[in-house]
Amino acid sequence: MPDPSRITLAPLHTEAALRQRVGELVAEIVRDTAGRDLVVVGLLSGSFMFMADLVRELHRRGLALVVDFISTSSYRGTESTGEVLLLRDLRASVANRQVLLVDDILDTGRTLNFAHALLQDRGPAGLRTCVFLDKPARRVEPFRADYVGFTVPDQFIVGYGLDYDGRYRELPYLATLSFAGQPTA
Ligand code: IMP
Ligand code: MG
Repeated sequence: MPDPSRITLAPLHTEAALRQRVGELVAEIVRDTAGRDLVVVGLLSGSFMFMADLVRELHRRGLALVVDFISTSSYRGTESTGEVLLLRDLRASVANRQVLLVDDILDTGRTLNFAHALLQDRGPAGLRTCVFLDKPARRVEPFRADYVGFTVPDQFIVGYGLDYDGRYRELPYLATLSFAGQPTA
């Protein structure tokens, strides 16, 4: 564990920029959603802040929603463990319904491949994926999200729900994290 006093944060996207991008994503999602009824499934914990903004904006634009969450085994520090386990399953049934799977960041692709397969097995009428951030340089398993907020560089990102060892999730903006001036990958 690096000395926390050597951590520095550099701003990446402002709160206003995040708000504008959420609005644009929601416009796309609404345009693509026939029937105006959607089960929105967030991946805990990283998606919580994006989910909160996303579902309120979907509501404002006239979609009826069921909001639910799943939780998978998570990242340790800045290194992916490579293993994905289901820690908390859905309450809602997704059979024959339009489903939107939401995560904070698409990194190696392991989490979303796992979650997408899990939901697809339950027979949804449609299954689309929305990630707020995409870090394509780190992909280990191919995965393409239907909606992407921002494509980000190969650096460790915190804020807007994303953490480093449980910290910084509460920041209303996005920042890159580095140790004593060295960017982390
Ligand atoms: P995956 O590597 O695509 O399976 O992503 C697993 C999870 O790692 C994501 O849902 C995030 O919670 C976390 N993660 C990946 N990259 C970052 C990052 O840059 N900052 C914070 N969390 C990250
Ligand atoms: Mg996550």
